[in-house]
Amino acid sequence: MKGLILSGGSGTRLRPITHTSAKQLVPVANKPVLFYAIEAMSAAGISDIGIVVGDTYEEIKAAVKDGGDWGANVTYIRQEAPLGLAHAVKISKHYLGNDNFVVFLGDNLIKDGITSLVEDFKNNGPNAQILLAKVKDPRMFGVAELNGGKVVRLVEKPTHPASDLALVGVYMFDASVWEAIDNIKPSARGELEITDALQYLIDKKYNVQPHIIDGWWKDTGKLEDMLEANRIILEDMKSCCEGRVDEKSRLIGRVIIESGAEIENSTIRGPVIIGAGSRIKNSFIGPFTSIYLNVLVENSEIEHSIILEKSVIKDISRLEDSLVGKNVEVYKSSVKPKAYRLMLGDNSCVGLK
Ligand code: TTP
Repeated sequence: MKGLILSGGSGTRLRPITHTSAKQLVPVANKPVLFYAIEAMSAAGISDIGIVVGDTYEEIKAAVKDGGDWGANVTYIRQEAPLGLAHAVKISKHYLGNDNFVVFLGDNLIKDGITSLVEDFKNNGPNAQILLAKVKDPRMFGVAELNGGKVVRLVEKPTHPASDLALVGVYMFDASVWEAIDNIKPSARGELEITDALQYLIDKKYNVQPHIIDGWWKDTGKLEDMLEANRIILEDMKSCCEGRVDEKSRLIGRVIIESGAEIENSTIRGPVIIGAGSRIKNSFIGPFTSIYLNVLVENSEIEHSIILEKSVIKDISRLEDSLVGKNVEVYKSSVKPKAYRLMLGDNSCVGLK
């Protein structure tokens, strides 16, 4: 069995981060989202993994390399434009051949992994298998209608959902998917939809089975979800300190200090992770915050946020619910007149008090 991780896309909901970087490489609890998908595949015994990439190919390749870190063989598959999930599968046909395969959306996080899903597929041998989870408001998701243990209909964002079972970003197929993909047309938004391919299989009486998960999952494609994913992963981590914490600092609760990080005269109230080479000085870092590599935080308070590498936060009384990109500077200016002075990328979003 092979794996296919979709890491192209346009990432419009995470702009401006996605103007310059792959959203799949945004770290959640200091680990790029994409790495969780590779780990899940590896744990399920899948070592041949294709990664579909778009404009951010170079960056993704630099991070994942040949997959050796996970004991996997990674092959990169270029998608010229984000023309849909089924399109991403279609252009991977040369790689997948007639093998069974699992498709994993590269910006999705599934806490319990995919091992039981893969086992189910191997044991039951359906033509396709979809992962479903109960959600509070199914109108925001692709929703599955089941009958007699089989999937009978899939509807994207229904006004009147037939169930509360939402499609999670993992799908498994055998070679019958190629017939489906060859027979579907682009949707109104111009994309080849994976739900249309699945609906084709259902309509042609292929066996499409559901696999319902109880565990937590998240599509990290937008800010609030990214922060929630960060919160949930951090809650499960164990404290450890490989950096330097001076005697004037306090670590409270679950706190991970990576190697070479320095904490001076600061309070860190977990769950928090402070990345390698970062420096926290005269500051408070509050719950559910991930500070990535080589960040400087000085005379500031931060809570429920993700700060990416080499950024500097200085003299800021309070930063919350924020995602700060790489090499960003946020500081208090003493220049008169008192004013906010901003240089923001396109599609930035700033909430001022
Ligand atoms: P989405 O989040 O559905 O789409 P997107 O990445 O274009 O984001 P947005 O809606 O904010 O513009 O994509 C889910 C995953 O699949 C994500 O990791 C990107 C990937 N993908 C592809 O690889 N190729 C594609 O053609 C599309 C649409 C998505």
